Amino acid sequence: MTQTQLLHELEPVVAGELDRHHAMAKEWFPHEYIPWSEGRDFDGVYGGEAWQDGDSKLPEAARVSLIVNLLTEDNLPSYHHEIATTFGRDGAWGTWVGRWTAEEGRHGVAIRDYLTVTRAVDPVALERARMTHMESGFATEYGTMLEQLAYVSFQELATRIAHRNTGRASGDEGCERLLARIAADENLHMLFYRNLLKAAFELDPNQTMRAVTDVVKTFQMPGSSIEGFTRKAMIIANEGIYDLRLHLDDVLMPVLKQWSVFDKTGLDAGGEQAREELAAFLAKTETTAARFVERRAERKARAAQR
Ligand SMILES: [Fe+2]
Ligand SMILES: [Fe+2]
Repeated sequence: MTQTQLLHELEPVVAGELDRHHAMAKEWFPHEYIPWSEGRDFDGVYGGEAWQDGDSKLPEAARVSLIVNLLTEDNLPSYHHEIATTFGRDGAWGTWVGRWTAEEGRHGVAIRDYLTVTRAVDPVALERARMTHMESGFATEYGTMLEQLAYVSFQELATRIAHRNTGRASGDEGCERLLARIAADENLHMLFYRNLLKAAFELDPNQTMRAVTDVVKTFQMPGSSIEGFTRKAMIIANEGIYDLRLHLDDVLMPVLKQWSVFDKTGLDAGGEQAREELAAFLAKTETTAARFVERRAERKARAAQR
């Protein structure tokens, strides 16, 4: 099946998923999640106090993770461009593209308000990082609709877990409440895409298997182009906010299980080949993840001794 045929065949599924999404999504308001009374003027126009290091009450890892999560949300115009180009603006697909974009827009607004009002991060550094990150934009590595559907299925779940665990790591009740609210949105996004790809598996199992395998093997978080991402990702992984263990156990495996990838019968040679590659990659990832967790525990034990 061509990508155009698949888009057409999936349209009724998109319409059904939109109905389900509308029924399940709860309206919420960013302003209700922000402790405005904690706010104070900054320097500049209002002549208040500039941000200083001691202002933030959050632990370093939570701060780093909040910045990564927010810059990731900030790049929404690029994501919108990518999915609007692939999924189109017509019919149910177009309705979804608009709805999804509007919901994602709320996340960046809410997190930025929270961080600014509570002085959780340096607002000057944050704004400069936003400029740099958005100016470079985001372009998908994936050329087909199936690959993009597979990517967003994993990515929405990864984002949900990153937000949820960042909230926990913040040790700040208000921050945790806001990020849990955002994580609930990400979960509905994941369901939408995961169900669509499940339908694609019915329509063209071999091509879909290939797309899933290629995406799993090359998956990178959407924020991976943020300046200093490698170091930031290390801090986030060391704190257990997001790491390879979580990526495998809480993102890849549950989604692959929902698609029943290892129970599918009747694949052709190409489909079987893709599935074998996937299994081999998952086994290799399991080894790497286990080694990472072991080394992290050793490092922590050594640090505790010092
Ligand atoms: Fe989001
Ligand atoms: Fe999302």
